[in-house]
Amino acid sequence: IAHRGASASEPENTLKAFQTAYKLGADGIELDIHLTKDGKIVVCHDNNIKRITGKPLKIAHSSLAQLRKLDFGKGEKIPTLDEVFDGFLKKFSIINVEVKSTGLSNHGVEEKLAKCLKKFKAHDKVLVSSFNPFNLLRVKNLVPNLRLGYLMCREQNVIARNRLWPSVLRPHSLNLDQNLYKYARHRTLFKTDYPKWIWTVNTLKDMRFWIARNDVEAIITNYPDKLRKLIEK
Ligand code: G3P
Ligand code: CA
Repeated sequence: IAHRGASASEPENTLKAFQTAYKLGADGIELDIHLTKDGKIVVCHDNNIKRITGKPLKIAHSSLAQLRKLDFGKGEKIPTLDEVFDGFLKKFSIINVEVKSTGLSNHGVEEKLAKCLKKFKAHDKVLVSSFNPFNLLRVKNLVPNLRLGYLMCREQNVIARNRLWPSVLRPHSLNLDQNLYKYARHRTLFKTDYPKWIWTVNTLKDMRFWIARNDVEAIITNYPDKLRKLIEK
């Protein structure tokens, strides 16, 4: 799965990055979503777009029209989730949509996401992931049969990374930061029965390590071409 699209070679989370991921042989893409001030779902990693555009604007405080005027790299515009589904649902076997929000409330992004999934009949092709279990709970209530991925990393806050969440959420997969494996107390996560989606795997050495484990269902990488070649070999 191409992380933020083919983000090693194209501007992350853009239509260009998703198109390149397809050309390079990815089975799917991973992307991040936020809600704009005027209630549109846009695809971007950061809640403040300074790193990407140079302009210190928060997505939640900006309209889609305002954001569209900015360059997200190589002249690419910020995509909406609708545009990604429209252009790529048929091309990929999986689209991993990460809901970005750390608070208890997130202004209804899940309701909009549920509508978008319905509009594009996208349920079978989408896995929704989040570090925030409250986001996943809301998605689960709105779209009960949707596959969920519970994201875990060391930096997650203590409530969010409580080991009880998987039994509440019953996610399809645990989407684990590969670095958790280095720590004995986290390594047990890799022994649970859930399918594992591992991120972000960018070196050949790490790719070989995770390919060899048969409980790893997906590997998320910025280099889908390198991973594809290695899998075929
Ligand atoms: O889905 C895995 C990965 O995308 C989570 O981290 O910061 O790249 O969104 P981040
Ligand atoms: Ca992400």
